[in-house]
Amino acid sequence: MPLPLGAVAQGAVPAGTSTDGSVPQHVAIIMDGNGRWAASRGLPRIAGHRAGAEAVTRCLRAARRQGVEYLTLYAFSSENWRRGPDEVADLTGLLRFYVRHKVAELHREQVRILFVGEVHRFGSDLCDELARAEQLTAHNTGLTLLLALSYGGRNDIVQATKAIARAVQRGELDPDTIDENMMSRHLLTAGIPDPDLVVRTSGEHRISNFLLWQSAYAEFVFLDSLWPDFDETTFAQVLEIYGRRERRFGARPA
Ligand code: IPE
Ligand code: IPE
Ligand code: MG
Repeated sequence: MPLPLGAVAQGAVPAGTSTDGSVPQHVAIIMDGNGRWAASRGLPRIAGHRAGAEAVTRCLRAARRQGVEYLTLYAFSSENWRRGPDEVADLTGLLRFYVRHKVAELHREQVRILFVGEVHRFGSDLCDELARAEQLTAHNTGLTLLLALSYGGRNDIVQATKAIARAVQRGELDPDTIDENMMSRHLLTAGIPDPDLVVRTSGEHRISNFLLWQSAYAEFVFLDSLWPDFDETTFAQVLEIYGRRERRFGARPA
């Protein structure tokens, strides 16, 4: 039975499904290895981040061509503030440059852009620019690009829990009606189907506080290559690996 792709949305797990090689509806990527890419060339870390931004463009093109509907890119974690002011300033500058120079093109390509995370921590000016990019592209009907910025999966769950607790406190919600779908609707990714596939580059085998709730039933692919080397061929290889996986969601093997 082919996997009814949208059915995994909002935490609703379909019973007895498996993949048939179909394209994942939602691909989420932990873009890791920029620093090592730069170090291996004797370059400063910022050079790796710049090359990583170019890989984002290639990845997006590949995702659109392959018919992926949702692409989430982990660009900055809530823990990445620990990197020190120089690297944070470099990354913030790169983000500003990317938003200023790429949004018009993405808009022409019908890409809808959303930012998930504590974006206010990047300062009100940049935050306003991000909000404008979201507004400009809000009605686009092509690929939806989620950029995870100052994102932390645990914090996502905490903020959703607080919102639900407040509704209970106001007397608007019976705690017995809280369920998985309600939690999903209060996450920063509300309305976005759960990722079918989570990819991490750079040979690290961990989730680093990415989409903890949302990736409950995602397939994981870990690549040894570094993010700045990611291209359309890599994307096709990853989809090929995904296509060979059997997703069971707890049901008996086919
Ligand atoms: C990923 O590359 C980019 C961010 C986390 C912002 P890294 O900067 O983590 O690169 P490595 O892991 O040090 O090689
Ligand atoms: C994860 O990479 C975050 C992003 C890719 C944005 P890190 O390089 O920050 O992860 P750790 O510290 O190695 O787990
Ligand atoms: Mg890293």
